[in-house]
Amino acid sequence: MNEDIRNIVILTGAGISAESGLATFRGPDGLWEGHRVEDVCTPEALARDVGLVHRFYDERRAKLAEVVPNAAHEALAALDRAWAGDLLIVTQNVDDLHERAGARRLLHMHGELKSALCAACGKAVAWAGPLPPASICEGCGRAALRPDIVFFGEMPYEMDRIDTALRDADLFVSIGTSGAVYPAAGFVQTARHVGARTLELNLDPSAGSFYFEESRMGPASELVPELVWELLG
Ligand code: APR
Repeated sequence: MNEDIRNIVILTGAGISAESGLATFRGPDGLWEGHRVEDVCTPEALARDVGLVHRFYDERRAKLAEVVPNAAHEALAALDRAWAGDLLIVTQNVDDLHERAGARRLLHMHGELKSALCAACGKAVAWAGPLPPASICEGCGRAALRPDIVFFGEMPYEMDRIDTALRDADLFVSIGTSGAVYPAAGFVQTARHVGARTLELNLDPSAGSFYFEESRMGPASELVPELVWELLG
């Protein structure tokens, strides 16, 4: 597997945190912790019911204290420590399990639960505990802080950096994501376009499985350590 591979981009989704005890977004009932994703993850939802949206993310933030990284997060952190070439872990997850496992070359494209964002000046601040809807930004004093979550209809973070990494990639790996949400679902096509190898690790075939050269089906806690040992030889 590691012959001719120097630069790696890894995309992770909710499936990598499932075995740590965090619910995926699109469970069998189509709900995310009892809510339609659209009711808690859109600018319209925030404008309509700020209390509901803050409470929802307060609960998700509190839940982080009850979970720990699993073998898949640990394996990616080990790869990050050992891999001599370029590596970028792009996570769609808003939990902090990758960094708690020790990953450093990491980017949260959909935001972070442990961050709050000023809607006026765009400054983000580290946040622990509940985020009261009336918390005013200390930087500009002009607006209330909101959860630093990229809602549907908003631009994900660091798209330029991700695109540059994808265009330099020799290997693109997608782990535990349903491939339902763009632009992340389109990364595989960019990677293929530049001639990178493409590999999917998921419990079930994702919406974009057919774009990948290779798909391995199973739990992330088994498939990711196996891949990392292959890559590290
Ligand atoms: N190991 C590997 N894959 C798993 C596991 C597991 N233990 N458990 C579940 N999966 C897979 C599921 O089969 C599914 O394909 O993880 C995927 C999770 O899909 P989603 O719930 O849709 O999560 P994700 O793809 O991360 O969602 C993308 O949608 O709502 C938005 O912004 C939110 O970042 C999120 C984005």
